[in-house]
Amino acid sequence: MGLIIGSRDADKAKAAASKIQTTIGSSSRVYGLVNPEVASKADILVVTVPFAALPDTIKSLKSSIKPGQIVVNVTVPLETAVGGLVCGDDTDAKKVVLDLAKAIPGVRGVDAGPLSNSRTIEQLTALLVSLNIRYGVKTAGLRITGLHSST
Ligand SMILES: NC(=O)c1ccc[n+]([C@@H]2O[C@H](COP(=O)([O-])OP(=O)(O)OC[C@H]3O[C@@H](n4cnc5c(N)ncnc54)[C@H](OP(=O)(O)O)[C@@H]3O)[C@@H](O)[C@H]2O)c1
Repeated sequence: MGLIIGSRDADKAKAAASKIQTTIGSSSRVYGLVNPEVASKADILVVTVPFAALPDTIKSLKSSIKPGQIVVNVTVPLETAVGGLVCGDDTDAKKVVLDLAKAIPGVRGVDAGPLSNSRTIEQLTALLVSLNIRYGVKTAGLRITGLHSST
C-alpha cells in the first residue's frame, strides 16, 4: 500500500512526502502530488484542510474523484475534535475507514452511524470547546464506554 501526500503546491507535497518517507523508512512508498492528482489516483482520499477552505477544495477535486472511491472528510469547524467516531452512509466504505482508524495507535474507531450523525458530533465538539474555555484548559474530551473491545 502506498501513501500520497497532497498539496496545492507540488514542491511542498514532494517535500512532505520525502520527510514522511525518511521517518517510516522503506516499508511503504510515499509520493507527493498536487491535490487533484491525488484525488485521481487514491483509493481512499482523506481531506484535511481548514474548514473555511473545504468548499473550494472539494470543488477543485470533484472532477477527479472516481465512482467507488472512498472520501474521508476529517475537517471540522471547531478546533477541538471528537476523535475516532466515524459516520457514513456506505457500510463497506465505513468499515474500511474504521479499520484505518483502528490501525492508528491510541485511536479506537467507533461506528457512529449514518452521515447525518456527524451533525451531532459537531455539536459535541462545540460543547468541548466551551468546557475548555470555562475550565481554562485545552484537553477536555469524551470517551465512549461500554462497547465490546472488538467494536
Ligand atoms: N476529526 C478530527 O478528529 C480532527 C482532528 C484534527 C484536525 N481536524 C480537522 O482537520 C482539518 C485540518 O487540520 P490541520 O491542523 O491539518 O490544518 P492545517 O495544518 O491548518 O491545514 C492543513 C493543510 O491544508 C492546506 N490549506 C491551508 N489553507 C488552505 C486553503 N485556503 N485552501 C486549500 N488548502 C489549504 C495546507 O496545505 P497546502 O498549503 O500544502 O495546500 C495545509 O497544510 C481541520 O479542519 C481540523 O479542524 C479534525
